Amino acid sequence: MSQLVNRKPSLNDFQLRDGIYFPQDYEQLNQNQHKQKWDKIGKTYYGSQKIETIQKSSPIKQDYTLITGKPGGTWNQFPENKSVDSILELGCGYGRIPLHLSKAKNLQCQKFYGIDISEPLLRRLLKFKQEYDFFPGAEFHIICNSAEILPLEDNSIDLVISNCVFMHIPDAQMRRLMSEIARVLKPGGMFVFNHSFHNKNCPSHLIHNFIRNLNIFSKNPIYLKQYDATEIEEILTTSGITKKCSQSTVEPTQEYAILPEIIKGVSVPFARAINKSLKPAEGMKQTLAYGYSAYSGLNN
Ligand SMILES: C[S@@+](CC[C@H](N)C(=O)[O-])C[C@H]1O[C@@H](n2cnc3c(N)ncnc32)[C@H](O)[C@@H]1O
Repeated sequence: MSQLVNRKPSLNDFQLRDGIYFPQDYEQLNQNQHKQKWDKIGKTYYGSQKIETIQKSSPIKQDYTLITGKPGGTWNQFPENKSVDSILELGCGYGRIPLHLSKAKNLQCQKFYGIDISEPLLRRLLKFKQEYDFFPGAEFHIICNSAEILPLEDNSIDLVISNCVFMHIPDAQMRRLMSEIARVLKPGGMFVFNHSFHNKNCPSHLIHNFIRNLNIFSKNPIYLKQYDATEIEEILTTSGITKKCSQSTVEPTQEYAILPEIIKGVSVPFARAINKSLKPAEGMKQTLAYGYSAYSGLNN
């Protein structure tokens, strides 16, 4: 997607406009169907646009979780009062996860790098930063690009995070991105990829894939590949990430599903209630889990 592929990637090649770094081939990127989809989704993503017209009297002023909700999963295991030099977030959206880690976990950093393909979401991130001042005092480097080549120095990042993003990125691009993560991570650095991969054995995805394949003419370009635990471990190893970070873990998420809850924008009756009622035995978790998370350094 980017013309930076054969060059040493650097933020110096980007143009900084209104607080966001754009690649030189941004006009070309704007022609990309995947980007257009995320720009559209980004305009109203989970009601987060409310921040743009927030009134002084709004309770949201005091409680950001009224917009963002409370991210769970692996983030619950994240240690409190951690301080690092640099954080990189892949697919940072409007900044929900850094806002949560800064406010609820008192995570501190000197530099925050956030990359996302959706310009409306990044503009909103700047608005959230202005409103709630998460990571106070840190340098913010917000990059609007497809996360594939990272315009960052080798061995420059302490903590790489991502939440619900890799399942939206095609396999070859995701593998390139993983090698880039391995390149920019400092040796002994840490990563947390929460709910980042869809589970290829989950019946809900299998049904969804079947229906999707019936319609060859209008596939949703953002619904992509799924993996099992062995494949994710292989990706982490091949990319070089596990070499940089000790003790990596791949684990099924705690949401289980046998039925897709929405098919082609239409809610499937009772699917949500049925999925929520599932309490799989240990041996069935790898089959019924909706997705996988992967992380290092949270078990210490
Ligand atoms: C499901 S949203 C998650 C957003 C955010 N991490 C959160 O949890 O609120 C997926 C995000 O990935 C971004 N994204 C999708 N494809 C991308 C790509 N190729 N490069 C960078 N970001 C991408 C989208 O714009 C969107 O912000």
